[in-house]
Amino acid sequence: MNEHIASIQTQALELIAVASDARSLDDARVSVLGKKGSLSLAGAAIKDVPKEEKAAFGQSLNAARTAITSAIEEKQAAIQQIADRAALAGIDITLPARALPTGALHPLTQIRDEATHILRCMGFALADGPEIEDEFHCFDALNTPADHPARNEKDTFYFDSGKLLRTHTSSVQIRTMETATPPIRIIAPGSAYRRDEIDATHLSVFNQLEGLYVDTDVTLPDLKGTLEYFFHEMFGTTTEVRFRPHFFPFTEPSFEIDVKLQVKGQAPRWMEVAGCGMVDPAVFEVINSNRKDDALNPEKLTGFAFGMGLDRLAMIRWGIKDIRLLIENDTRFLSQFA
Ligand code: DAH
Repeated sequence: MNEHIASIQTQALELIAVASDARSLDDARVSVLGKKGSLSLAGAAIKDVPKEEKAAFGQSLNAARTAITSAIEEKQAAIQQIADRAALAGIDITLPARALPTGALHPLTQIRDEATHILRCMGFALADGPEIEDEFHCFDALNTPADHPARNEKDTFYFDSGKLLRTHTSSVQIRTMETATPPIRIIAPGSAYRRDEIDATHLSVFNQLEGLYVDTDVTLPDLKGTLEYFFHEMFGTTTEVRFRPHFFPFTEPSFEIDVKLQVKGQAPRWMEVAGCGMVDPAVFEVINSNRKDDALNPEKLTGFAFGMGLDRLAMIRWGIKDIRLLIENDTRFLSQFA
């Protein structure tokens, strides 16, 4: 090997050997391999080397560069290893990691999804409608006369335009029948709004799930069987369900449904969870005259409808005593449902 190059290599390897950190190693690299480094300058002198020695000179140059480069890489790895060890010193890497808090679905979402799942398994499809409604879809088409108390300004949120926040999800029945061709089997979970005083069992925004089944030969036993099955799936087959005669303008006959609540340490009591009934033919007729056809012919078709309170179902499922807990977003409450 060319002597000059050999001495550059020896010096370089010494510099590399004594470098104790990334910085001094880099200084060493620049002083040898940098643009003005000793080896680079020696290499530039190749043009003055006699022709017959050029090849040997070039080989020496390459051999030195290879040796120096690999020495630098080795040293780099060693320095990095020392730095890594120092960073970990004092840390017990065998300690278990701190658990990250996991998110979970809100209890109302869980109940809504569960109710939807049960009914979809029975053949009901999801339907949807607007929360800002007009009086026709919320009341008139549901056979609710202009002087009905539910239409009162004290009970309903009206906009200046005359539109309103829907007071129940029953408006989705109407919107569905306006366009669908029977048989119709739909459910519509969603929010409803009333100017109720807020207390432990009332909110001005609450959640319902509406259902509608229209076909030839839909009967009251179908309604009863469907909803009994639903509540048994929801709360267990031993849960008692009762149908209490009631009045709704859009169904005849109509019922309210109660579920027998058995809370530990309390006397059993009935809790109202839903309204239901056989669709009043008058509702079909309003829709027909609006559609200008006979798609919902009351001579050929019958139907049942129901509307249940999802917040109530959640309260029953988990024994929640105050409905306000469901909207306060207090994680001490919500984390119990994770
Ligand atoms: N819309 C009623 C309410 O909010 C509940 C209801 C009763 C819905 C009877 C229905 C029904 O579809 O047939 O109190």
